[in-house]
Amino acid sequence: KKVVLAYSGGLDTSVILKWLQDEYACEVVTFTADLGQGEEVEPAREKAKSLGIKEIYIDDLREEFVRDYVFPMFRANAIYEGEYLLGTSIARPLIAKRLIQIANETGADAVSHGATGKGNDQVRFELGAYALRPDIKIIAPWREWDLNSRQKLLAYAEKHGIPVEMKKGKASPYSMDANLLHISYEGGILEDPWSEPEDDMWRWSVSPEAAPDQATYIELTYVKGDIVAIDGVPRSPAEVLTQLNKVGGDNGIGRLDIVENRYVGMKSRGCYETPGGTIMLRAHRAIESLTLDREVAHLKDELMPRYATLIYNGYWWSPERELLQTMIDQSQLSVNGKVKLKLYKGNVDVVGRMSDTDSLFDEAIATFEDDEGAYNQKDAEGFIKLNALRMRIAAKRLK
Ligand code: ARG
Ligand code: SIN
Repeated sequence: KKVVLAYSGGLDTSVILKWLQDEYACEVVTFTADLGQGEEVEPAREKAKSLGIKEIYIDDLREEFVRDYVFPMFRANAIYEGEYLLGTSIARPLIAKRLIQIANETGADAVSHGATGKGNDQVRFELGAYALRPDIKIIAPWREWDLNSRQKLLAYAEKHGIPVEMKKGKASPYSMDANLLHISYEGGILEDPWSEPEDDMWRWSVSPEAAPDQATYIELTYVKGDIVAIDGVPRSPAEVLTQLNKVGGDNGIGRLDIVENRYVGMKSRGCYETPGGTIMLRAHRAIESLTLDREVAHLKDELMPRYATLIYNGYWWSPERELLQTMIDQSQLSVNGKVKLKLYKGNVDVVGRMSDTDSLFDEAIATFEDDEGAYNQKDAEGFIKLNALRMRIAAKRLK
């Protein structure tokens, strides 16, 4: 009996590690991923070793995360409930995939994670795991044990000699999750939807008030709906997001404070910082505005909430998500060109867009000046009259 644990190296998952060894008497394999959370992952190796772990996996998944998950999602302009850019949601399918790969490699029959029984993350991990390995066993300690408070967790750690002080500085009062796309805060004083977060909660961005008085201009180059260069300099997917997070955060961009509907049925209050993602969404819509056919764009927009909900609810590895993705990716073949942006005190303003190869914008037709016969204004008369026909018939009947 062997179990692969998604291990952060923090207190919760260290307690889980020990608990699995004791409660299930099984061998534990740890898996720690660098998804760009901005914390060292290597310390997890020493921690795992000190807890007697022999098989320790530590992977840098940053490029894969952005290339195969974040970028495909942004091709759809996905947002959940009009606001949430799905920063945590989109990382879970990749972690699920790696957990199963490692289980297969090490001959494990189970996987385990540190998500609670109240949230979305448990659903995302487990739907992914089942989709990729139907006979996998899943151990979710938060749904089983009675260590349901900080106090009990600390007591357990102390009793079993788990080093509690693994991070310098004071412990955060929030439940947080971070990766290259975002950092999230839940719990603590945020549990009252009326209470405004202290400004020192935010870690990735300055407040718009404190942002520079001088605007920052950037230019993004798109190939098939993905950013491939910033200011003309070619960048890998993870580099793109890293750089946009920096410039976005410096300009106070990407803070969000919302109440959202979790899949399990409850409402929860969360704060998010998504500086790079906020820029990417604006810019992607701008390049699409020039290069997508109107009906294709509108159809994408109609399907987007469905696609976003699929990702939020954990259905990345589902046939319907893959079907939608195929359609979305197909639409992006013409999404090539450049977008010019002005970043200023929390705002992302699109100030230019162009495409040498795929622009559907025809200046000769659209002009307010003499179009030299490019467009016949007389055609509009019949167009409007026939579109008005049913309304005129109805209006006549009323008389
Ligand atoms: N509410 C967000 C979501 O469902 C963020 C979840 C954060 N997860 C965490 N383990 N702190 O996607
Ligand atoms: C958790 O419950 O583990 C975090 C929040 C969520 O998954 O929605």
